[in-house]
Amino acid sequence: MEEILAPCWNDVVDVLASGVRRLLLFGPPGLGKTYAALRLATSGPAERLTCTEDLTSAEITGSWMPAGAGRWEWREGPGIRAWRGIEGRGSRLVVDEADRASGDALSTLLLICDSPESARWRNPETGEWVRPGEDFTVVVTTNSTSLEELPPALRDRFPVAIEIDRPHVGAVGALSEDLRAPALAGALGGEERLISLRAYYAFDTLRARLGAERAAGLVFGARAEAFLDALSIAALR
Ligand SMILES: Nc1ncnc2c1ncn2[C@@H]1O[C@H](COP(=O)(O)OP(=O)(O)OP(=O)(O)O)[C@@H](O)[C@H]1O
Ligand SMILES: [Mg+2]
Repeated sequence: MEEILAPCWNDVVDVLASGVRRLLLFGPPGLGKTYAALRLATSGPAERLTCTEDLTSAEITGSWMPAGAGRWEWREGPGIRAWRGIEGRGSRLVVDEADRASGDALSTLLLICDSPESARWRNPETGEWVRPGEDFTVVVTTNSTSLEELPPALRDRFPVAIEIDRPHVGAVGALSEDLRAPALAGALGGEERLISLRAYYAFDTLRARLGAERAAGLVFGARAEAFLDALSIAALR
């Protein structure tokens, strides 16, 4: 299959390559936002944070942990680890489902994503002041289609927001050949709703054992017939 990137993915690659350090990706589930955020234009391994209503500040900057013999030590969290990266150079932080962050965790997230000139945090154990390294980048992902749902202060830290409306071409390579073009096209016969890559992967695996009809029933339920019709039409093309 030709490796042609959809315009939205082209934008992602160009923005990250141009040295922009804060990027927001939004759009329907299962199109490869997190996968790309963890891998594209990174310097070393990325850190990942998934926001929920219960996320605490401790899960971002760190917390005291028992270190044996009645001692406690401060274990730094993904936010600070990403600030440091390798040898203090900084690395990628991926913040998934950013629209769900609230309260204490949101304030901490705002600190972590702040501009490099303002951002600093003090390690409570050593008293060391830590600042984000030069290669520290943040990619935030959300399923919200309206960016209004994001806390305004968080939104403001991400001036570049790209709507992901197609699966990443690299993601369909693992699918059987007849599924690749439909998966890339995204939507299903006339429907607005995009089909998640996860549904395609599950359908492909099940189909090999159970046949197309049962696999479609198990994955798509009431939309099974429409899905199979769309596949036959795609096969004719
Ligand atoms: N470029 C790729 N190459 C191989 N597999 C991929 C690629 N992009 C995505 N995938 C796979 O597709 C699935 C969905 O990707 P991912 O989790 O990144 O989607 P997402 O857009 O972040 O979804 P959500 O909004 O639900 O978090 C995952 O199983 C992932 O491993
Ligand atoms: Mg994701």
